[in-house]
Amino acid sequence: MKKKVIAGNWKMNMLPNEAMKFIDELAPIAKNTEDEIILCVPYTDLFYSLLAAQKTNIKIGAQNVHYEEKGAYTGEVSCQMLKCINVEYVIIGHSERRLMFNETDETVNKKIKAALKTGLKPIVCVGETLEQKENGKTKEIITTQTKIALEGLTNSQVENIIIAYEPIWAIGTGKTATAEDANNSIIEIRQEIAKMYGQETATRVIIQYGGSVKPKNVKELFSMSDIDGALVGGASLNVEDFAQIINYEN
Ligand code: 13P
Repeated sequence: MKKKVIAGNWKMNMLPNEAMKFIDELAPIAKNTEDEIILCVPYTDLFYSLLAAQKTNIKIGAQNVHYEEKGAYTGEVSCQMLKCINVEYVIIGHSERRLMFNETDETVNKKIKAALKTGLKPIVCVGETLEQKENGKTKEIITTQTKIALEGLTNSQVENIIIAYEPIWAIGTGKTATAEDANNSIIEIRQEIAKMYGQETATRVIIQYGGSVKPKNVKELFSMSDIDGALVGGASLNVEDFAQIINYEN
């Protein structure tokens, strides 16, 4: 059995002192799990979170990165900048960035390549809008996003990527995809990876579900054949909720 990868995405929340307190409280709970626990925090929390997470099994990630190595990109942060302070993961192509900050499948692909080259592990988000879902376009959207995101990589690079299937209509709405629907979409994403990189690589790729994951629905989601973990927004801001998600088996 693959271990689950459970990541919190704090989005634009939490000040450094709150981040450190959260990690101090989570660490004793996280230490009892074999699963991979990641917190993707705002840039200004990275350094403090990394300090607090030292000697724990909590990994720290960023929420975005630029694909260029350096230069006149005011306000942007490069992969090397993250890597040199020991950040391990970075979310790429979250739907909020695609919708509000004009990220495209092509920039997602460039960011993935830059991250992998630097040794960061990308958590790549794909997912359909409500309108696309209602028009029966879910499969087309998620397979196209996957295909363009993963173009031009090696098998071992693909195996270092985490994909998060996050249906946009389920994010922050309290509406979770049914466990069956989430699993079916994840199977479609995996089939697309198999077409590009073969079945063995596709089987190895961790594919998470994200969108209103809560303590009450995580166990059912994790019981499905292809759901390898979760990307958690709102419920990762509260230690009790996130701890219950990590302890999904109890
Ligand atoms: P919620 O868990 O708040 O729905 O957010 C999901 C998400 O966007 C994680 O990246």
